[in-house]
Amino acid sequence: MTTRELLAEELTTARHRTLRLVDFDDAEVRRQYDPLMSPLVWDLAHIGQQEELWLLRGGNPDRPGMLTRQVDQLYDAFVHSRASRVDLPLLPPADARAYCATVRNKVLDALDALPDDHPEAFTFGMVASHENQHDETMLQALNLRSGAPLLDRGAALPAGRPGLAGTWVEVPAGEFVLGVDPAAEPFSLDNERPAHTVDVPAFRIGRVPVTNGEWQQFIDDGGYDERRWWTDAGWAHRQQAGVIAPQFWNTGTLAGTRTRFGHIEDIPADEPVQHVDFHEAQAYAAWAGARLPTEIEWEKACAWDPEVGRRRRYPWGSDTPSAERVNLGGDALRPAPVGAYPGGASAYGAEQMLGDVWEWTTSTLRPWPGFAPMVYEQYSSPFFDGITSGDYRVLRGGSWAVAPGILRPSFRNWDHPIRRQIFSGVRLAWDV
Ligand SMILES: [Fe+2]
Repeated sequence: MTTRELLAEELTTARHRTLRLVDFDDAEVRRQYDPLMSPLVWDLAHIGQQEELWLLRGGNPDRPGMLTRQVDQLYDAFVHSRASRVDLPLLPPADARAYCATVRNKVLDALDALPDDHPEAFTFGMVASHENQHDETMLQALNLRSGAPLLDRGAALPAGRPGLAGTWVEVPAGEFVLGVDPAAEPFSLDNERPAHTVDVPAFRIGRVPVTNGEWQQFIDDGGYDERRWWTDAGWAHRQQAGVIAPQFWNTGTLAGTRTRFGHIEDIPADEPVQHVDFHEAQAYAAWAGARLPTEIEWEKACAWDPEVGRRRRYPWGSDTPSAERVNLGGDALRPAPVGAYPGGASAYGAEQMLGDVWEWTTSTLRPWPGFAPMVYEQYSSPFFDGITSGDYRVLRGGSWAVAPGILRPSFRNWDHPIRRQIFSGVRLAWDV
């Protein structure tokens, strides 16, 4: 498959997904489910607006496009907070759909006309990544929605294997190559680059993510009420927000159940815990006699092959992600039970590092040495530690909601330490 064909397929797959997530009546897509999230119709038009900006307007907001300047500006994520977007004079849903379709047709023509090995191929990949990232955001919004379910319970997943929760693998001390270069990963984003050698002391890391069953033991042991497991910032937030269990876990007569996309169901003990914030993750780790990994440790455990002294493209090797190895793509609407993917193990034996849940790390977002911003210069730099308040922590590995075509072991996500509407979970680490 040529790069052009690959990009066209990525864009088309993403669009099918987007349109499924807004395939509701006008009142529904205009609704704001939670102040943390935009109405779905904002995400929809923003996807088209960014696609037009980067691929048809050369990334120059002063270059006229299909929208008036006033409307175009409604979809600037840096200008309008998520909480305020529902009150903007947004494009009506039918107009937003038509706008996205018109942009897409022109973009596919431009892609067709792109010469082989043209550097702008990267920008098409970046736009496909952007749309897929918003699809995940829209799933977060739909999960926060109250009322009768709009989505079903999700596609079937493989069964887990017992006995893995709480176990670990060891990663011996030594150098490895952190990050990637465009030669190996042409569609890697700026903050994943460049590849460079780092030395990492020995550590242990969870063979699988922490499960709901393990988390229940933390709750039963009074973990949420014991000050000693929490950092100062974590305890302050836990008190102020009244955090007593992962988000979407029910209490009272519904104890033992959770609400997921509007469905009330028993909490599966062997599924990775989801919807915990960084502070909860840290408190859990302290209670368990462990800690969270750094993102550098995480990437080594995921991608390094010590036998050959090289990175693997994916934890298991170079085969593209498939349903036998990893839970990605969004159809499952939940993580797979631990042990579901023995064929997805990394060289060190860590499983489910890609897919299922984003894993909190202790790291703040920093540029790798030699960082150079990509064409979308505001993607990473404004969030680097020391530039903002530094109030972001890196999450790794992607969730079940991430598209396989945009995820790599080097992919870095970041969010505020109090956020948990995201599909976030925990993998423990230990010093050796
Ligand atoms: Fe965006």
